[in-house]
Amino acid sequence: MNTESVNVLNTKSVFVIAIDGPSGAGKGTLSQLVAKHFGYHLLDSGALYRLVALSALNQGVDLQDEQAIADIARQLQVKFDIAGNTTRIVLDGNDVTDAIRHENVSMSASLIAAYPMVRSALLQRQKDFAQAPGLVADGRDMGTTVFPEAQVKIFLTASAEARAERRFKQLHEKGVEVNMAELVSDIKARDDRDTQRATSPLKPADDALVLDSTSLTIDQVLSAILAQVR
Ligand code: DC
Repeated sequence: MNTESVNVLNTKSVFVIAIDGPSGAGKGTLSQLVAKHFGYHLLDSGALYRLVALSALNQGVDLQDEQAIADIARQLQVKFDIAGNTTRIVLDGNDVTDAIRHENVSMSASLIAAYPMVRSALLQRQKDFAQAPGLVADGRDMGTTVFPEAQVKIFLTASAEARAERRFKQLHEKGVEVNMAELVSDIKARDDRDTQRATSPLKPADDALVLDSTSLTIDQVLSAILAQVR
């Protein structure tokens, strides 16, 4: 059996919970909690787009050069080192766990994520995360493109203001002072780009459960997701 058919089998037989939605809706936290609850693997697909963007920025590659960025995506040398509750992301031997979260990387990731060649270069790498006993896949197109056969699909959303407020608190706790109005406008700009791109735009799969977390606590959202899985 060749590698491709093994991968197809793996992806089809493994239980996949796809959690999609815009930036700051709480997908990251919720995906970690759900993965921990079931003892499943976790795919943070946004980290892959961020890694490609960071790598391009570090190498001084023109972000408008789709072909060059797709080459970076194909050749990405990345390791996810999991120790207990923390995952360190290592790119070409360097720990970039914090670096990929910087605002300039967020904006660049959103830009290069619109390139079809980049998305297709990352497709199989994402599918390969589907390993027994199961996978929680966090992203924008998990339920529509990467794992259309996922058994559970959640589309987690919240108002742009609520998402900006959460981001503001996170940054404030880290001692980073930012302007709230700027955060809201950055989030809206990223939403526009993510929802309007031609390839795999951000949108709920037809069979997804749409959850609006604007006025829900993390525990309430977690309960709703676990109920859906059951
Ligand atoms: O989830 P995140 O903020 O870490 O994602 C970073 C960027 O990558 C975001 O602007 C959208 C893009 N992305 C995507 O296009 N498809 C995914 N499956 C995940 C992220």
